[in-house]
Amino acid sequence: MDTPDSTLEARTRTRLSDLENRGLKRSLEEPAGIDLCSNDYLAFAQHPRIRRRFAEAAERLGVGSTGSRLLRGHRAAFRLVEERFAQLKNTPSALFFGSGWAANLGVLSTFPQHGDVIFSDELNHASLIDGMKLSKARRVVFPHCDDVALVRLIGRVPCTGQRFVVTESLFSMDGDRAPLARYAEMCTRSDFALIVDEAHAVGVYGEKGSGLIEHTGCKDSVFLSVNSAGKALGVSGAFVCGPAWATDYLIQAARPFVFSTAPPPAIAEALLESLDMLPDTASQRLMIRTLGAELRNQLNMRMVSSPIVPVIIGDSEKAVEISRRLRKTGFDVRAVRPPTVPEGTARLRISINASVTSDDVLNLSARLREILEELGLWPAFS
Ligand SMILES: Cc1ncc(COP(=O)(O)O)c(C=O)c1O
Repeated sequence: MDTPDSTLEARTRTRLSDLENRGLKRSLEEPAGIDLCSNDYLAFAQHPRIRRRFAEAAERLGVGSTGSRLLRGHRAAFRLVEERFAQLKNTPSALFFGSGWAANLGVLSTFPQHGDVIFSDELNHASLIDGMKLSKARRVVFPHCDDVALVRLIGRVPCTGQRFVVTESLFSMDGDRAPLARYAEMCTRSDFALIVDEAHAVGVYGEKGSGLIEHTGCKDSVFLSVNSAGKALGVSGAFVCGPAWATDYLIQAARPFVFSTAPPPAIAEALLESLDMLPDTASQRLMIRTLGAELRNQLNMRMVSSPIVPVIIGDSEKAVEISRRLRKTGFDVRAVRPPTVPEGTARLRISINASVTSDDVLNLSARLREILEELGLWPAFS
């Protein structure tokens, strides 16, 4: 009989080769070429001002925070940056988590309780889904961005407690936007708690750059928003924004907050610099969305004003092959495959950041069309 170890190894190796055979095995590859795949929408991650602030803060405050925020890990910089971010979102309060993943897990495992129902967009991010799985509430999935279907479902699903509606605002893998105004109207009217993940919208939409809630003007209808600081803000972590009683309760009960070492305080200092710079980035916001729309146009896709352009290939191996060829010619475009995206929708997830030029976009679309033609996929892919 196999020892437990060899059985574990054999079973894991079988899974790995199964992934390989289906073109789904992932590998780690460093950046190379023009960045057309990161979430660094405002090109802040390498910005000299933010780098300097981070380095100075690390020099002054040390590197590790030494404990959770509830122990010795709390520092003035966290309080300051939370206040600044709450001002940006125009909410009474903000709480900083070590990542957007941790923030979503914290929010969704804390507020929805037994007897409640969470209505969740079918394309919501894995961190939202995993947070809901940790919750004792029932989860009901509604068709992507379909507010009419959502209303119908809400009417059909019994609920003795609170109803929650959970959505991303700008969807990470499709680059499209939730009908926030319609959700907001419905949630206000019926007293549902609307939770919005603004991971990809912060820095990209809104006059102040705070996201699609600002852009849509629906702040008062949103219970909580979750705002990753590792994307357009160029650093890492995430802010949960909402009423003070809610962030106060997260400090008591959100397990990823309570039971995890606080991020390095220099991260909070670097974010203060990002927030200082954010008001002056309106032209970058417009530019990345316009270039995204131009790329969609060049690829015969439906027009959306968004820096995220999903080129759906379908077959995983083909998507990886196209990404490999693009990378070879200097375009860092990555393939995204199931289970990150639904089965049969493997894609190139192209994202535009503020360092990309319109010539880059023209050259990319020309090269991509060539490859798609060689593979017999042009113009049928869209
Ligand atoms: C929509 C969405 N929410 C949350 C996260 C997690 O955020 P973070 O990368 O800060 O952990 C991501 C990450 O890609 C995301 O795309």
